Amino acid sequence: ERAHIGVTGLAVMGRNLARNFARHGHTVAVHNRTSAKTRALVDEFGHEGSFLPADTAEEFVALLEPPRRLVIMVKAGAPTDAVIDEFAALLDPGDMIVDGGNAHFADTRRREAALRERGIHFVGTGISGGEEGALLGPSIMPGGSPESYAALGPILEDIAAKVDGVPCCAHIGPDGAGHFVKMVHNGIEYADMQLIAEAYDLLGRAAGLRPAEIAEVFQGWNSGRLESYLIEITADVLAHTDADTGRPFVDVVQDRAEQKGTGRWTVQTALDLGVPVSGIAEAVFARSLSGHTDIRAAGRGLPGPAPTTLDGEAAARFADDVEQALYASKIVAYAQGIHQIEAGSTEYDWAIDAGRVAEIWRGGCIIRARFLNRIREAYDSPQRPESLLSADYFRDALAGAQDAWRRVVATSAELGIPAPGFAAALAYYDGLRSPRLPAALIQAQRDFFGAHTYRRVDRDGTFHTEWSGDRKEHAV
Ligand code: 6PG
Repeated sequence: ERAHIGVTGLAVMGRNLARNFARHGHTVAVHNRTSAKTRALVDEFGHEGSFLPADTAEEFVALLEPPRRLVIMVKAGAPTDAVIDEFAALLDPGDMIVDGGNAHFADTRRREAALRERGIHFVGTGISGGEEGALLGPSIMPGGSPESYAALGPILEDIAAKVDGVPCCAHIGPDGAGHFVKMVHNGIEYADMQLIAEAYDLLGRAAGLRPAEIAEVFQGWNSGRLESYLIEITADVLAHTDADTGRPFVDVVQDRAEQKGTGRWTVQTALDLGVPVSGIAEAVFARSLSGHTDIRAAGRGLPGPAPTTLDGEAAARFADDVEQALYASKIVAYAQGIHQIEAGSTEYDWAIDAGRVAEIWRGGCIIRARFLNRIREAYDSPQRPESLLSADYFRDALAGAQDAWRRVVATSAELGIPAPGFAAALAYYDGLRSPRLPAALIQAQRDFFGAHTYRRVDRDGTFHTEWSGDRKEHAV
């Protein structure tokens, strides 16, 4: 008997993915650098389906039916290169290596090109949904060649999450497109988490609510337009009491957020592409600020406004305002992320369908949310919006939310509670709305000190003013 697919790297994500394949009736070859993990998997979960364990790379490859489909689930970076090198030497033209880790898309492009020369398909694939998603149905974002998707798509769609019967898996585009989209997914994830954290902070510090009360507010939001995985788990976390101390669990966790790097990559890449992802960037910076204990200790003595909280009635209204601010800011985060996907798609010639991306994010992944249906609709409509914000549904939603959104940002500034995500999102919104930006003055300054030239509103051409001479304008 041969296996339909193989998984090497049996840490929790790889193990759960292998089980997911087996549970869907696929025979799975399983392999790990240390065989103990392979045996543990078969001992513990062998009854779930058909697993073929292999001790060595050679045995593993021999177990796979041709063309071989080999999924590697190892740490991004050097470990991934090492595993690719080891297996590529054992494969034949037409075989496929699927990298399901969080690789940088530039690495994926490099690896794809190198393996293509040897006739091997390299399929960099975003997989989202954490441990549970890997087992019960993740959202899957494969890149690579269309031929490889023809061979891999059905089996990946089989194990993916389903929403309204539609699998949360689609061919994103060639080479690094899948990992690029996964990277932006994570950037949006960071923004979403930051916005939720700001909402929690404001409800606590401005409205005086306790974590258990905030949990109830989030539960309420989760039955409305904000319904999403992250809102749901936030309510759960906030309602949880620490067993040791009896205190709200969130209060015993140190306030330093870590990161493995995908949010940072999103922002670095956005800078290179010239895409303003300010909400995502603020989320990355907010994590970074939280970790700087030294400057935070030094900053603790800085003056702020006199501490006040909103009174009863204002506090009750404030929760509704925060819901609006959260929804509006979340729309901005997705708009920025989609802008980045479209810019990446243009830069690398990927022809990514943003509507399809929104569709496969509806289930399985960390940012799954009810409103992704709206995003899909916006991009499926005959007039594809230039920005998500200008699509009818979102324009109306922002029109309805903007007063409350402004009140929340103003209140946070007045009370001295940082809300960089809400504020950056609102500034982006107002930036897009503004018929005229102060960029005109910046161009004038650039021309003044560096003869960098400017364009005029009333005539075509490029101009420079002799600032240090007669101050006359010259066409250049
Ligand atoms: C997912 C997640 C996952 C990511 C974690 C941790 O889609 O399942 O995005 O891939 O690794 O969320 O990310 P950080 O450690 O950077 O917060």
